[in-house]
Amino acid sequence: MQVDGVSYRSIWSSDDGQAFEIIDQTSLPFDFRTKRIDTYEAAAEAIRVMRVRGAPLIGVTAAYGVALAMRDDPSDQSLELAYKVLLATRPTAVNLRWALEDMRGRLSALPKAQRFDAAFARSGAIADEDVEINRNIGAHGLPLLRAIAEKKGRVNVLTHCNAGWLATTDWGTATSPVYQAHNAGLDVHVWVDETRPRNQGAFLTAWELKQHGVPHTVIVDNAGGHLMQHGEVDIVLTGTDRVSANGDVCNKIGTYLKALAADDNNVPFYVCLPSPTIDWRISDGLAEIPIENRAGREVTHFNALLENGEIAPAQVVSTGSPVANPAFDVTPARLVTGLITERGIAGATAEGLRTLFEHGHAAA
Ligand code: MRU
Repeated sequence: MQVDGVSYRSIWSSDDGQAFEIIDQTSLPFDFRTKRIDTYEAAAEAIRVMRVRGAPLIGVTAAYGVALAMRDDPSDQSLELAYKVLLATRPTAVNLRWALEDMRGRLSALPKAQRFDAAFARSGAIADEDVEINRNIGAHGLPLLRAIAEKKGRVNVLTHCNAGWLATTDWGTATSPVYQAHNAGLDVHVWVDETRPRNQGAFLTAWELKQHGVPHTVIVDNAGGHLMQHGEVDIVLTGTDRVSANGDVCNKIGTYLKALAADDNNVPFYVCLPSPTIDWRISDGLAEIPIENRAGREVTHFNALLENGEIAPAQVVSTGSPVANPAFDVTPARLVTGLITERGIAGATAEGLRTLFEHGHAAA
């Protein structure tokens, strides 16, 4: 997608073929910076502190991390260590495990001398596949937006967190139908949940929609239900970090509340789901998906652009009050209207997912 008129992906191979580069999302939206990642430890740090974030992008970053470990030491022990260190960075997005298992499976079958080249090439291929998956999610989601536009002109989408191109290699998942609708000339407008505590909506989704010229409005997390009651939301589109085989959806904290409000107001609630985000090993999302608990400081402080132009952490909670910071929640399948995948729209049921993916799927 475009940044100040220049095409970018969120992650790419360095020209020298020895490292990879990212957009450092911790400095957005106030400062656009790219960063070269040279070691697997630096890749792990980038995931842990959320320089890169979003389930698909975490997976691609981990794949590149394994490649860098292979450059420095292509032994089995090194492969195992990189796998373990990278897997431990964040617990909820299953794309991380998917990418690491893909890399380990392929590399362990190869002679050591071939491992780095193969790993680097496979990382780039996973990134390219992610772009195609997201492009197809957009193509399958577009008719939903077009049908609304044909009925009432403007389409009001509500989204939560950032499931945009910054959270993937390109296009995004929840934003892909939006970008494709906008590119096709539909009048699409996005309500952007700010998404406390880290403000992925206010900081990242708003920034990328603005860069692409998509009309949008940032709202506080609590405004969505009110807007739905007043007919201001036509459809909710979110991303996901992990979907269990029965269709339960884990996503950024607060997604569940939006699904409840959507259900109460007959607003369709769709989840944009790339297949590497399906966890075929579990069939009860609420009981089985590990929910990341992050540092309390994310609740008490966030980076702010001060009136004097300085960017600094601002405290926004009364000093000394205890805080809790569960980073994800699970929306039961019964509240999900449909899962927009790269192969089409599935019902949020075991049968719905199996029907689309029965003929083999890399994440199974
Ligand atoms: O904690 P984050 O910012 O990594 O959480 C991201 C989300 O919850 C996204 O909605 C999800 O990963 C899907 S990204 C296409």
